[in-house]
Amino acid sequence: MLKLKGSIKISGDKSISHRALIFASLSTGRVTISNLLESDDVLRTLNILKELGIKIIKKENKWIVFGNGTGGYFQPSQVLNCGNSGTTSRLIMGAVSSNPISCTFIGDKSLSKRSMSRLSTYLERMGAEITLTNKDFLPLYITGNTNLLPMEHIMQKASAQVKTALILSALNLRGKTKIIEKKNTRDHTERLMKYLKIKYKKKILNTNSTSIELNGPYEIKPKNISVASDPSSAAFFIVGALIIPKSNITLKNIALNKTRIAFIDVLKKMGGKIRIKKTKTISGEEVGDIKVSYSLLHGVKIESKYSPYLIDEYPILSIAASQARGFTIMEGLSELRHKESDRIKSITINLSKVGFNVIQKKDNIKIEGTKRIELKYQKKIKTYGDHRIAMSFSILNLLYKDKLIIDDESCISISYPDFKKHLKKLSAFY
Ligand code: S3P
Repeated sequence: MLKLKGSIKISGDKSISHRALIFASLSTGRVTISNLLESDDVLRTLNILKELGIKIIKKENKWIVFGNGTGGYFQPSQVLNCGNSGTTSRLIMGAVSSNPISCTFIGDKSLSKRSMSRLSTYLERMGAEITLTNKDFLPLYITGNTNLLPMEHIMQKASAQVKTALILSALNLRGKTKIIEKKNTRDHTERLMKYLKIKYKKKILNTNSTSIELNGPYEIKPKNISVASDPSSAAFFIVGALIIPKSNITLKNIALNKTRIAFIDVLKKMGGKIRIKKTKTISGEEVGDIKVSYSLLHGVKIESKYSPYLIDEYPILSIAASQARGFTIMEGLSELRHKESDRIKSITINLSKVGFNVIQKKDNIKIEGTKRIELKYQKKIKTYGDHRIAMSFSILNLLYKDKLIIDDESCISISYPDFKKHLKKLSAFY
């Protein structure tokens, strides 16, 4: 029988990797980045920065970025291809908007269906010229300039990507930019700015709302960046160890950022035996080791107010729910429709196909867990090209002895190219 056992260091965090590259490109000199995630999405950002005139080389295991200062991007000679990466498209769009250059952004089929007006409306108000396809989508053309109007932005939707894009734009603008978040989102950008000594004011407006104030333009002094390991990637093995009998694993160097590890609180509430030990702080992010052992889980209700902190983990949480006693209810998932796939649909369809009782009503999902499903025949899992769906069902597949046939595993390289290798390393038999 298979179990998960042993200890591994998870790959670098995707969100921090994108930010590390972009902030390094805006610095006034040479920045060495270690533990950068070399996934398809992050490499899209890296290659686009090269297109924008930034020299980036790899030396041994590290990446060296020769920053050109804020406002230092050159006119690209080619279209900027963001592939599947929403983070690349939004962050780079913000970063180029305050440079006097014109760029064309394109993406793959899935990215071309995701909303870009959620960012472009803010940039247009500031004075950037933007043309979208069908008023919302890629391909998109943007002409930026250094004289965009710095202003106050009230974020209508909770989105760390949009917030970060507006911050990146503000770094090269003369004057005050204020961004008000009604619902807080992941704060890697703010942490990295603090680490890089970029001055900004963050005020807590009430329990769930903050404002960030910047006063540009900035000169960013080069400082080396070490990327913490990705908690969202760790989540797959954490749930794997919780649902596979006799498992016991340790995952190392994981970013313990509060805006990212809410899924651990949920899993603990479900009865998961998970222990966290903080070890150090790297480049502004606390990191530590996470120990997990097999647990008997029970269903819980996850209220909508937690959704910005669980946005990437709902697929794997739904796998945990499928193995828990009773019902798990996930509420307020509307933003899941705007991810790499419509995740409400991809979770519901695939779990139902395996045989679970899943009820989807509007933006809520209710899953009845059971350990009693035995599969006689193979079942085809449709990933819709979504890496997190592919990895989540690969974890469930460990319980079903490969009876689940995942239609497209290649998308895993979007966020976690070493997933299979790491899974193999943790797999043991008894
Ligand atoms: C990300 C923010 C989240 C998340 C995405 C990465 C980021 O998207 O889903 O995978 O790096 O800022 P939102 O913009 O919806 O917060």
